[in-house]
Amino acid sequence: QRYRDPAAEEKMNPFAEQEAWEEHQIGKATLKFGSKDKKQKHDDYEFVFEDQIEFIKATVMDGVNVEQELTEAPEVSAAKTAFEKLQNDRKTLPVYPYRDELLQAVNDHQVLVIVGETGSGKTTQIPQYLHEAGYTARGKIGCTQPRRVAAMSVAARVSQEMGVKLGHEVGYSIRFEDCTSEKTVLKYMTDGMLLREFLGEPDLASYSVVMVDEAHERTLSTDILFGLVKDIARFRPDLKLLISSATLDAEKFSDYFDSAPIFKIPGRRFPVEIHYTKAPEADYLDAAIVTALQIHVTQPPGDGDILVFLTGQEEIETAEEILKHRTRGLGTKIAELIICPIYANLPTELQAKIFEPTPEGARKVVLATNIAETSLTIDGIKYVIDPGFVKMKSYNPRTGMESLLVTPISKASANQRAGRSGRTGPGKCFRLYTAYNYYNDLDDNTIPEIQRTNLANVVLSLKSLGINDLLNFDFMDPPPSEALLKALELLYALSALNKHGELTKVGRRMAEFPLDPMLSKMIVASDKYKCSDEIISIAAMLSIGNSIFYRPKDKQVHADNARLNFHMGNVGDHIALLKVYSSWKETNFSTQWCYENYIQVRSMKRARDIRDQLEGLLERVEIELISNSNDLDAIKKAITSGFFPNSAKLQKNGSYRTVKHPQTVHIHPSSGLAQVLPRWVVYHELVLTTKEYMRQVTELKPEWLVEIAPHYYQLKDVEDTASKKMPRGEGRASKD
Ligand code: CDP
Ligand code: MG
Repeated sequence: QRYRDPAAEEKMNPFAEQEAWEEHQIGKATLKFGSKDKKQKHDDYEFVFEDQIEFIKATVMDGVNVEQELTEAPEVSAAKTAFEKLQNDRKTLPVYPYRDELLQAVNDHQVLVIVGETGSGKTTQIPQYLHEAGYTARGKIGCTQPRRVAAMSVAARVSQEMGVKLGHEVGYSIRFEDCTSEKTVLKYMTDGMLLREFLGEPDLASYSVVMVDEAHERTLSTDILFGLVKDIARFRPDLKLLISSATLDAEKFSDYFDSAPIFKIPGRRFPVEIHYTKAPEADYLDAAIVTALQIHVTQPPGDGDILVFLTGQEEIETAEEILKHRTRGLGTKIAELIICPIYANLPTELQAKIFEPTPEGARKVVLATNIAETSLTIDGIKYVIDPGFVKMKSYNPRTGMESLLVTPISKASANQRAGRSGRTGPGKCFRLYTAYNYYNDLDDNTIPEIQRTNLANVVLSLKSLGINDLLNFDFMDPPPSEALLKALELLYALSALNKHGELTKVGRRMAEFPLDPMLSKMIVASDKYKCSDEIISIAAMLSIGNSIFYRPKDKQVHADNARLNFHMGNVGDHIALLKVYSSWKETNFSTQWCYENYIQVRSMKRARDIRDQLEGLLERVEIELISNSNDLDAIKKAITSGFFPNSAKLQKNGSYRTVKHPQTVHIHPSSGLAQVLPRWVVYHELVLTTKEYMRQVTELKPEWLVEIAPHYYQLKDVEDTASKKMPRGEGRASKD
């Protein structure tokens, strides 16, 4: 079986996935050293790969020969300053020869679809050209990116090219982080942020140009933006609209935007040799690592860097560790291998590393998520290793369950990935799947996110923009009507909408928060329970996800004990998160305290930033900041006010059953209540791995449900008809 299922390895231990991997990987495929004498000097080791991977060369992609002058790097004398070099680099980009033509086209047409290979200079250059041509005299140029990291790194690059400080003329804006100022004329932002800007400025009056970049990614926010910008373009003839894409969907974009002209930037693409595995690989992570090492030891250094596509942060960190482990013994005969991870949550300080030129005699291996597929261009890549997977969200509107699963990529993705190796010279792409898989198993295109996600958030935003008739909204590809109805139902349950589907006062307040509606509702409800201070801390902690605690391999017992401290009294996961935050605050945000408690200081700082912003937003919706830390029931009731649709009741066998839309679920093993099994719980989210797990769980009293949401629950829903209360611990789910 070629698909690895990380979920199957998770078992009951929340950390098992990572551990199992490391052990498996390090155990199985370490380099085998030829000599038995372990004391021998490293340089003398002979190495053999246990798992030699066989590839067969299949097709060669069409290569276009490019004029010499374009491909040759400009002669840069040592005397030139870095700034001059940057200016020269700009002129070598494929888009540069088309600068004037492009400006003319923008001048002549209100809407323009721009297509060009990744790395042509669309994102970094086009906004600069427009700035140089005077468009910023009339307003800002906004350029949207589906990913935070891309928005940040592109803005940083452009500010360098323009020789200005990041945040001044060139800035970026991502959720919970605004790096712009009064001066900012080129604004890079996530698509979600531009969507939020509509709430404050429905005609985007402060913009002269909006560039919806990476349109082919078809994220939920990008798809909604399409509808909104298309609409405002009608009554703002002065607004220029650019839709840019790395791939072929151009016709579709053009059709959608009333036959807008397509401007093609001729690519500079070198031939790429595609290699497929002869047989399916059982373990793609291992195969990817072995392939990277094979390339590294058999190809001369300086000949090109390696880009490996993995599915997420955890996998990348595992790969990084294994690679470090296996290259340690290689000795000085083999060139240095510089390992560069890149994923959405990579700390800013580390992001720059992947763009630094590889030192002479060394080779870089970039371990990237899908972000490197089109959002970021990394120069110098000659080898691409493509296991053929991506982590993708899917949503079941019937159960309301969202899951993030490792899924095979589409053919379009596979080709984008391969193309990353042929940017600056002929490249090679190693697909860790068979040619048969490619032709027969992969879909042609990725399904747009709007068709596989929860829409509650977007529906709330659209409603607050006054767009009431969602069924007739101008979607490029409409979402399933079931998902729309589910979203409307939820917003109605949360009292964000009234019976007629109109926004209520509660809904208006909720829409101010850049959070999922249930979280926003929890905050709005905290006003009533006089605990807004505690609730925004909890919301901030929930917003940073599962990266608060860490558990080093050699100190697991200590880490677990530290963690249990916060769960004392079986207060539930939400209150435990609150305790973590408050304790950290009491130490005056001490880094040392984080180390001692096995808490990631970086995550905590982020939580603090988010909390600060939520505090600011409280003021906007006129909720007083009140602390009520001793009344845990009040805090739990506020949580329940947002999350009451997520209630579940214990079953005889130790599993739970959700109260509305009944389905069987389990407490996630990482929860502080996993061994406690309270009779009634409310949970933050459901995740599907080996089982349907509730993550972040708090105990609740069933009568609260009727008290808080009488329109949603009736007494019969919360009657305790089940047999006598079970002794604790009995009847727990068997480990399978
Ligand atoms: O948007 P598109 O894929 O067409 O290209 P781009 O992102 O504008 O990249 C143009 C050039 O800028 C590439 O050669 C990148 O290597 C470089 N670049 C960079 O050095 N650092 C960044 N953060 C972004 C781009
Ligand atoms: Mg780009």
